[in-house]
Amino acid sequence: MELTPNERLIIALDVDKESAALGLVDELKGYCSIFKVGSQLFTRCGPGVIEKIHDKGCRVFLDMKYHDIPNTVSEAIKAAANMGVFMCTIHAGGGMKMMQAALEARGSSITPQIIGVTVLTSMDQSMLEEVGVMKPLEVQSSLLVNLAQKAGIDGVVASPHEVSKIRQTCGQDFIIVTPGIRPWIADDDQKRVATPREAIRFGANFIVVGRPIIHARSPAKVAEQIVGEIQEAI
Ligand code: C5P
Repeated sequence: MELTPNERLIIALDVDKESAALGLVDELKGYCSIFKVGSQLFTRCGPGVIEKIHDKGCRVFLDMKYHDIPNTVSEAIKAAANMGVFMCTIHAGGGMKMMQAALEARGSSITPQIIGVTVLTSMDQSMLEEVGVMKPLEVQSSLLVNLAQKAGIDGVVASPHEVSKIRQTCGQDFIIVTPGIRPWIADDDQKRVATPREAIRFGANFIVVGRPIIHARSPAKVAEQIVGEIQEAI
């Protein structure tokens, strides 16, 4: 997949108000062409915000992390496809049938690209054990990656530290989307982090950055710095 540095940065619009989201799009669309609308913004503002981002000439990654019975996920993917979103997420932990239902719902169209969430980048080993997963985190994550590839979905969300291995085992055409990006050391809820340069060198197609950009004093400056790092890494 040939992508420009700008196309490889996805900015997470994790804000409460449509005006704030659209303000960020206006400020940042020179540095990135895909904006992530997640459960926070979507639950607050609804599908209208997606239409408005499209009207500004940008693409939308709808990150709702669907995890439900196959029929419900199928209907949600049909709705996402109708809105014209570029990419959306489902939980690989929802199983083979759920992932295949999502693919069938998309039909013959290329979009939305369907990306599986494996183990959230905010999770560590003790948090996995807390929910009854006793396997080592890497093993659990590989299991879900393999299941996602077998189901035939387009790729996975993976922490920077899992990217190289996934690239090796799943090949060049499997899409890897990587959150947990920190241009500097931060003390927040993301546990498995890396710099933009590292994530791209490890083999990520896309990196997702939220707070380091949207909470910065100058979001555009940080976005520009990150695009520069991506450029250097490719
Ligand atoms: O603010 P920050 O850069 O940590 O944002 C990361 C974004 O990526 C958030 O919107 C979060 O929902 C999303 N994400 C994640 N880990 C995953 C999948 C998505 O952090 N496994």
